[in-house]
Amino acid sequence: MFLKNCWYVGARSHDIGQTLVPRTLLTEKLVLYRRQDGHVVALEDACPHRKLPLSKGRLLGDVLECGYHGMQFDCSGSCVAVPTQSRIPPQARVRAYPVAEKWGLVWVWMGDVDQADESKIIEIPNYGNPDWGLTAGGMLEIDCHYLWVTDNLLDPSHVAWVHQTSFGSPGTGDTPLETQSFDDGVIVSRWMFDKPLPPYYAPLVKFEGNCDRLQHYEVRIPSICINRSIFTPAGTGGDAEALDPKAYVMVSYNFMTPVDEDHTDYYWFQHYNTDPDDVEIATRLNEGAEMAFNEDRNILEAVHLGMKFKTTRNINLGLDAGSLYYRRLLDKAITAEQIA
Ligand code: FES
Ligand SMILES: [Fe+2]
Repeated sequence: MFLKNCWYVGARSHDIGQTLVPRTLLTEKLVLYRRQDGHVVALEDACPHRKLPLSKGRLLGDVLECGYHGMQFDCSGSCVAVPTQSRIPPQARVRAYPVAEKWGLVWVWMGDVDQADESKIIEIPNYGNPDWGLTAGGMLEIDCHYLWVTDNLLDPSHVAWVHQTSFGSPGTGDTPLETQSFDDGVIVSRWMFDKPLPPYYAPLVKFEGNCDRLQHYEVRIPSICINRSIFTPAGTGGDAEALDPKAYVMVSYNFMTPVDEDHTDYYWFQHYNTDPDDVEIATRLNEGAEMAFNEDRNILEAVHLGMKFKTTRNINLGLDAGSLYYRRLLDKAITAEQIA
């Protein structure tokens, strides 16, 4: 079961043009395309006649024509033409999903149309700030339940084992974690003091020597993961609100879209307070992130199968406190939505 009354990322903006793109969100099949005026449309991807996916049809301007017998649907999902008859049956329509575009992403509202509210899309501080750099981001298809990914993104400790050549550094395996809980999410974080820089970040920071490092792992409902990393000269860390001018700040935004119980579309981009115009750095960062996320994918797909088909009990550890809290919170929200 999934939380429906929220926005999920359905695509990256540049993936959607005047062609038909099929996507599955929360087990529902959708077809996405861009209208001639630039707005993105998301319709149910099943013709009401014989359920041929409409994504196998064609666009006639903004009208979507089924590829089997040519029924035509407008952007609201209403049928506007039926083959061999002039009467349009009243049930001849497909569901239309509210869509918004923000932060270079296409957001789809999967719940009650009346509750769709663009102001509920996450805010991204400093987006558009000319002093901040931005990576192109990407999308990974991961064969696991999306909550294995949110667990992973509430778990700063795994970097010591999974990302030894990128994000890992001394301290990541043993420094205790702090958990802060909210009505719509949780933050797991820790400062590590006077440590060498990890390999992924060493070429990026603007100071020499050891660093104080913040790992801030945050997840908000339904499955938005904000991973904030701060590296500041050793001796200047400890307060994320009063940073040294040399501090390097990198925020990794990660959006999990459940495809179904066994598959997740993982969208991401990185946003950082240096080198706004350096394409080479942005490219290198993006490639490094993708490599690390593939390291996670390798683990999480195996965890998904291990937990799904376990034959003995598993245990929890202290490092799971944040993710267990988050799962309970989301469960409550899903239950409340089901009975509303
Ligand atoms: S299946 Fe679409 S018109 Fe027949
Ligand atoms: Fe990871």
